Amino acid sequence: MKEKIRGLLKKRNAIMLSHNYQPPEIQDLADLCGDSLELSIKAAQTDAEVIVFCGVHFMAETASILSPNKTVLLPREDAGCLMADMIEPEGLQIMIDKLPAMPVVTYVNSTAAVKALSTICCTSANAIDVVNSLDADEVLMTPDRNLALYTASKTKKKVHIWDGYCPTHDRLKTEDVHNARKAYPDAVFMAHPECRPEVLELADVIRSTSGMIRYAKESKSSSFIVGTEIGLIYPLKKANPDKVFYPASTNMLCKNMKKISLEDVLRSLEFMEGEVKVPENIRQPAFKAVQKMVDLSLSKKI
Ligand code: 13P
Ligand code: SF4
Repeated sequence: MKEKIRGLLKKRNAIMLSHNYQPPEIQDLADLCGDSLELSIKAAQTDAEVIVFCGVHFMAETASILSPNKTVLLPREDAGCLMADMIEPEGLQIMIDKLPAMPVVTYVNSTAAVKALSTICCTSANAIDVVNSLDADEVLMTPDRNLALYTASKTKKKVHIWDGYCPTHDRLKTEDVHNARKAYPDAVFMAHPECRPEVLELADVIRSTSGMIRYAKESKSSSFIVGTEIGLIYPLKKANPDKVFYPASTNMLCKNMKKISLEDVLRSLEFMEGEVKVPENIRQPAFKAVQKMVDLSLSKKI
């Protein structure tokens, strides 16, 4: 199966990208694994004609926004994101109209139609830098209230908040963290900014998924409590075989991130199935918002 997939990737001049939460066999076969920012940058820069995106729908859409001339395949079309579904363009437009004029900063975990109404995008790796880069005292951040609250605590700007959240991260409670700390008193607690503010207050470090992998590598500590989707434990262990990683809660599982199998990747490549293409009238304004973020990240290396 793996050889067949690699053969088809070569034949179709395709690149396989995987998010850090994907199942181990998908991560092992991919050309690149990463967080949302790294995957967006790769999608913008690759020479491949086809991108097989192993992640969720908004990620494949982002690749299509950045690379309209490439074919972007999502091997399971039903792999969605519950947070991205918590905002629709009509609702966002109502909120924009109610507020005084201000930039709209949209987390990449959103649909292309919502990005199209936004000034600039951000990911968990660069949200604070993106907000600070804007020439405005107030911003509206969508759709993740937890990322927005975290960003607000790190910037002088007034942050207006859309009330969406990631159910996987929002599920982690302070009680889980206290229990994990009791069980592993020497471990460093790493949390993702999609977690609740009261959970982030207990964190030793707050990072994106790839940020956690880098932090664990550089840290002198040998054990870590991981406050994000449990799929991240696999790349953490792979990059740090001599260190130990404990999930902050085994409930932190995103079903959508586990949908894609090797069979799905093979079928998608064989029959060019599962194409995600953003219509041009939405893609163009969405492109501006995503590209602004990519340019900022590349120039500042954030
Ligand atoms: P990052 O990998 O960018 O930190 O994103 C986490 C996430 O929830 C993606 O769905
Ligand atoms: Fe969406 Fe949360 Fe799943 Fe990421 S982990 S895809 S934000 S529901």
